[in-house]
Amino acid sequence: MICLGIESTAHTFGIGIATNKGKILANALDSFKTKCGGLIPNELAKHHEKVKNEVLQNALQQANVTLKDIGVVAFSQGPGIAPSLLVGLKFAKKIASKVKVPIVGVNHCIAHLEIGKLLTKAKEPVLLYASGANTQIIAYENKKYRIFGETLDQGIGNFIDSFARYIGLGFPGGPKIEKLALNGKKYIELPYVVKGMDVSFSGILTNLKNKYDSKKYAIEDLCFSLQETVFAMLVEVSERAMAHTEKKELLLGGGVACNKRLREMCSIMCNERNAKFFAPENKYLMDNGVNIAWLGILMKKNAVKNYSSIDINPYERTDDVDVAW
Ligand code: ATP
Ligand code: FE2
Repeated sequence: MICLGIESTAHTFGIGIATNKGKILANALDSFKTKCGGLIPNELAKHHEKVKNEVLQNALQQANVTLKDIGVVAFSQGPGIAPSLLVGLKFAKKIASKVKVPIVGVNHCIAHLEIGKLLTKAKEPVLLYASGANTQIIAYENKKYRIFGETLDQGIGNFIDSFARYIGLGFPGGPKIEKLALNGKKYIELPYVVKGMDVSFSGILTNLKNKYDSKKYAIEDLCFSLQETVFAMLVEVSERAMAHTEKKELLLGGGVACNKRLREMCSIMCNERNAKFFAPENKYLMDNGVNIAWLGILMKKNAVKNYSSIDINPYERTDDVDVAW
C-alpha cells in the first residue's frame, strides 16, 4: 500500500509518498519565503496554488510511481492557516477522485511525532514539539497523545521569527538567529517564563525589542541570550514531563528542533537522567509531506470515499485525536 500525503498547514506545500512498511519514496516541497515581512494567509494560498502541480510531478518522479499506484491520499486537516489548508484539501480531493481512492485527514502535530518515532525507533518518548505555531510537551497516555505543557501564547518559532523580523532578518528567522548567537559572548538577563508546565514568550519578545531599541546591546549577545533563555525553559518542562510520566526517552519534533544548541541542551539533560535522546534528520523536522503520508498509513482505517464529508479543521488540537493504531 502506498500513501500520498499533502502538507499545506502554513508556509510549506509538500507532497510525500510512503509505503505501509515505512519506506519513504518521495519528499517534494516548495516553501514560501520572504526577505522582509511574515506569513500573510492569502499570499500563502497563492503560493501553494502556484506550486502544487510541480510539487506533485516532482514527488511522482522521485518515487518512480504514477497516480494509479497510490492506494490512499492523506492531507493535513489542521491545525493551520485556513486558506492554506484549503489548497491541500482541494488538491487531495482532486487527486483521490482521479484514481478513485479514499482520503484521510490527519493532524499535523501528531504527524511530526509519528515520523520521529518511525525514523529514530524511539518507542515511548516524551515529545518536545517546537515548531513555528506550536510548542507542546506531549506523551502518549491512555489512547491519546496528551499535552503535558504548552505555550500560553505564540509558538516558539513564531516568537523567534517575530524578533528576527523586528531586527530586519526576514522569514524564516530561526537559522539566522542561530548563526548570530554563535558569536554571542555575554549572557544578557531576560525574563524566564515557566508557569507550572506551561511557557510563554510574548513578554520576552517585548523585553528583547526594548533592549534592541536601546542600542546598548550587541545583537549577537541578544540572540545568544534569547536561545539560552527560551531553550532552558523548554528543557525544564520536558524534564519534568519525563519525571512525571517515568518515560526514559525524549524525541524532538518541529522546525525549531533543527537548532543545534537546543539539541545539545536536550542531550545534556537526557544524559544526566540516564535517558535516551532522539531527533530525526532536519528535513523531517520541518514541515513536509512525508510526515503526512506516514500518518495517513497509520490512520488508513479512517479513510473514506465520500469526499464531501471531509473538511479542514484549523483549530484541531493534538489531544482531540483518538490514537487507534
Ligand atoms: P507548526 O508545525 O506549528 O504548524 P510550522 O509549520 O510553521 O509550525 P515548522 O516547519 O515545523 O513549523 O518549523 C518552522 C519554524 O522553525 C520557523 O519558525 C523557523 O524559524 C524555525 N527554525 C528553523 N530552523 C531553525 C533553527 N536552526 N533554529 C531555530 N528555529 C528554526
Ligand atoms: Fe509543522
